[in-house]
Amino acid sequence: MKTMNNFSDKVIYQIYLKSFKDSNGDGIGDIRGITEQLDYLQALGVDYLWITPFFVSPQNDNGYDVADYRSIDPIFGTMTDLEELIDEAKKRGIELMLDMVFNHTSTSHQWFQKALAGDEKYQNYYIFKDGTPDQPPTNWESKFGGPAWEYVPHLKKWYLHLFDVSQADLNWENPQVREELKEVIRFWKEKGIGGFRFDVVNLISKPEHFENDHIGDGRRFYTDGRHVHEFLKELTADTGLDQYVTVGEMSSTSLDNCIRYSSPAEKELSMCFNFHHLKIDYKDGKKWELMEPDLMRLKGLFETWETGMQEAGGWNALFWCNHDQPRIVSRLGDEGRYWKESAKMLAASVHLMRGTPYIYQGEEIGMTNPHFDDIHQYRDVESLNYYNILLEQGKTSREAMEILQARSRDNGRTPVQWNAGENAGFTEGIPWISLASNYREINVAAQMKESDSIWAFYRKLIRLRKEKPVIAEGQIAFMEKENENVLAYRRILGEEELIVFNNLTGQTTEVCLEDSWKNYRILLTNYEGEESGTEQNLKNVSDDRWTLRPFETLVLEK
Ligand code: NOJ
Ligand code: CA
Repeated sequence: MKTMNNFSDKVIYQIYLKSFKDSNGDGIGDIRGITEQLDYLQALGVDYLWITPFFVSPQNDNGYDVADYRSIDPIFGTMTDLEELIDEAKKRGIELMLDMVFNHTSTSHQWFQKALAGDEKYQNYYIFKDGTPDQPPTNWESKFGGPAWEYVPHLKKWYLHLFDVSQADLNWENPQVREELKEVIRFWKEKGIGGFRFDVVNLISKPEHFENDHIGDGRRFYTDGRHVHEFLKELTADTGLDQYVTVGEMSSTSLDNCIRYSSPAEKELSMCFNFHHLKIDYKDGKKWELMEPDLMRLKGLFETWETGMQEAGGWNALFWCNHDQPRIVSRLGDEGRYWKESAKMLAASVHLMRGTPYIYQGEEIGMTNPHFDDIHQYRDVESLNYYNILLEQGKTSREAMEILQARSRDNGRTPVQWNAGENAGFTEGIPWISLASNYREINVAAQMKESDSIWAFYRKLIRLRKEKPVIAEGQIAFMEKENENVLAYRRILGEEELIVFNNLTGQTTEVCLEDSWKNYRILLTNYEGEESGTEQNLKNVSDDRWTLRPFETLVLEK
């Protein structure tokens, strides 16, 4: 086993709490809403629920601005609700993973408030620099747009915020800060939490000297920073985290660093999220400039990260979607004619790789981007900031809206579509953000009844990972490397072998066929009405070629 803990056959489901299920009619998803849906999650077959932050917060960044790491924000429920959820989940074989936002706190956190009141101990919890209002310490940019420093006139100091101005970066170089954060982990472990996700954790170690960045936005000075590996080792050792499932969110990271973060021998984390494969439609690497996806690049990135991690014993988190990303079926699939096939193909393409798959709420029913056409429908701080920045750059409001429709984080944040009823069954009140208008067609209730729904396909993928050690533990090798249209790989474990083809396009395409595969059985296909074990979808073009239909997934088993 390649991981710190025995979880290579597990699947993790991400809950964006605010949009999952509202239990009390205030329009905001909450903890009891999750408890209500545990049977659903058990039926799907997932093992862990990663729940986005529910701690006390002003909600400027939907809970990623934490004001108290140990209390639950009343909009999401109470500690009793959480304890009930933990118990009820365990009864169904499900564990919870909490989201630890340790790179920064809300400026409403009492540590920051004490710092503002002049307490030097707490000023040292953050990154404060002396200065004058006309001269920020560096020219770095916030990831949400604008400068990364804010001036506090009465202190005559600037503080660093890599995200919103209300999210002040913590000073991890200060051992007291590290001890405080360890206490937070211990607190939640006591409650019976089964794992942790660490928000932008590769940004925690800032440089000794702060200097201007003349070629970028500053990230090269603090990404995978000088002490990050030491800090993670210390956190893990001192809180016993090596017995838990942990995943680090790694911003603009490198393969070498992720190998170190996730190798069991290093005892840092169980696995890493990286985002390189989700930038293949960023023009010149810029999120707010649209481009067609570069499929060759996508394939190359999967190969580099899968084989690189395999060779060095690291472990990838496998995913397409989360609360910061547009919906994958709208992005790389097809919302129209091949909606179902493309959603299934995208699912299979990552679930059958080496690593731990994550499903983001609604992905399992092929939820799409909502295509908001009014700026007032957007809620996300980053989207609203960039809308203004795009206008300042000279874009028309229509052009700016088009970019938001493709890139806004709110694309993934619309409420889960439970049924065809009012507000898709998400709330009996007024939802905090509009729903996608297609919920009458795309919803959980409809898909649970259908044997070949996207939902049924996800369920099958989860089950297969548990039934087939070759999926959970096998080696991976990529094929069709020169073929832009097809993501193909084989998985091998001793005598077991899988051959996986995914047509990434809406056109038919051909793949090479090896003689021996003609005797393999079909384990999985994503075209309606084709049961595994049949041969009807193997279109033999010639002796050594096969045709794949639009967005077809074909999995052969030795
Ligand atoms: C990553 C989180 O996923 C995102 O939602 C958040 O805005 C930033 N980190 C800052 O905490
Ligand atoms: Ca609620």
